[in-house]
Amino acid sequence: MDWIRVRGKRSNLTALTGAPRVGECAAMDADSIRQEIELVRADWAARGRHWDRRSDELAEQAARMNAPLIEAAAVGPGQRVCDIATGAGEPALTVAELVGAEGRVFATDLCPEMMLGARRRAAARGLGNITFRTADMLSLADADAAFDRVICRFGLMFCPAPDRACAEAARVLKPGGRAAYLVWGPRDETTMFTVFVAAAEAVFGPLDGVEAIDLARPFSLGAPGALGAALAGGRLAQVEESEVRFAPRVPAAAPFWQAQFEMTFGRALDGATEDERRALEAAVAAGFERLRDGDEVPLAVHVRIGTGVKPAG
Ligand SMILES: C[S@@+](CC[C@H](N)C(=O)[O-])C[C@H]1O[C@@H](n2cnc3c(N)ncnc32)[C@H](O)[C@@H]1O
Repeated sequence: MDWIRVRGKRSNLTALTGAPRVGECAAMDADSIRQEIELVRADWAARGRHWDRRSDELAEQAARMNAPLIEAAAVGPGQRVCDIATGAGEPALTVAELVGAEGRVFATDLCPEMMLGARRRAAARGLGNITFRTADMLSLADADAAFDRVICRFGLMFCPAPDRACAEAARVLKPGGRAAYLVWGPRDETTMFTVFVAAAEAVFGPLDGVEAIDLARPFSLGAPGALGAALAGGRLAQVEESEVRFAPRVPAAAPFWQAQFEMTFGRALDGATEDERRALEAAVAAGFERLRDGDEVPLAVHVRIGTGVKPAG
């Protein structure tokens, strides 16, 4: 699979105009936030086994996604790093190798069910410098100024109050320490999801009526400026947001979409009839077939990275 990073555009947040505010979240009261977190927890708990089964297959893509995030976070040997929403263990496992024996990684997630495979993979790689903990990113168990770096890949979008999650990251960072978050860009700018949405709507009807299919929340910070606003709302300084696009061309004959398919639709598939499952798979396959160019399918991927620094003093 040939992944090509085609663009990495960096913009200073202050240069962005019309950035969506995270104010809607800031306006949520504590009870509404708690209720929303419980919904998210139940959703991910139910997806855990699908992720565990499929995430190894996504290792190559995982490495490609990790690289710009780890670079933006400026992770290096000897650091203490907190990975938030680690799920099946990335980027925590890769970072544990990078920080080495003098460093330490604390990998956290709201759902213990999501971390089962991460623990297994850490043991298989012989990583003795990584600790897994169940924790909500809004209330980490760690002391103030415990970490050199806080990183989070594809997690912040699921938090109903991302600015408060960034404030919590700032609390546990040492002064001068850096936080870096990676999120999906707008949903219609990543081919995998445009094909999935069209297929799911063809089979299940309008998606806002299908509680088991969440193709909205993962993109809640996708609009340019939204991620940077969350970091700034968390009182991090030197906030920057950048756009990263990939243009992979994948072999059409390989079942390249199956792992992401199961991780995206797992909970819906659990409740679907055999006919619905077959129809959904056929609609996805047909969607990619329409995009085929010779032996390959050209895909577009848009992710966004936001960084901020804990002010000194
Ligand atoms: C898409 S997965 C990302 C997993 C991994 N970081 C990766 O990139 O493959 C999202 C993860 O966010 C976790 N999550 C959602 N809300 C959270 C919260 N409030 N605090 C901590 N983790 C949360 C979920 O349990 C899930 O494991």
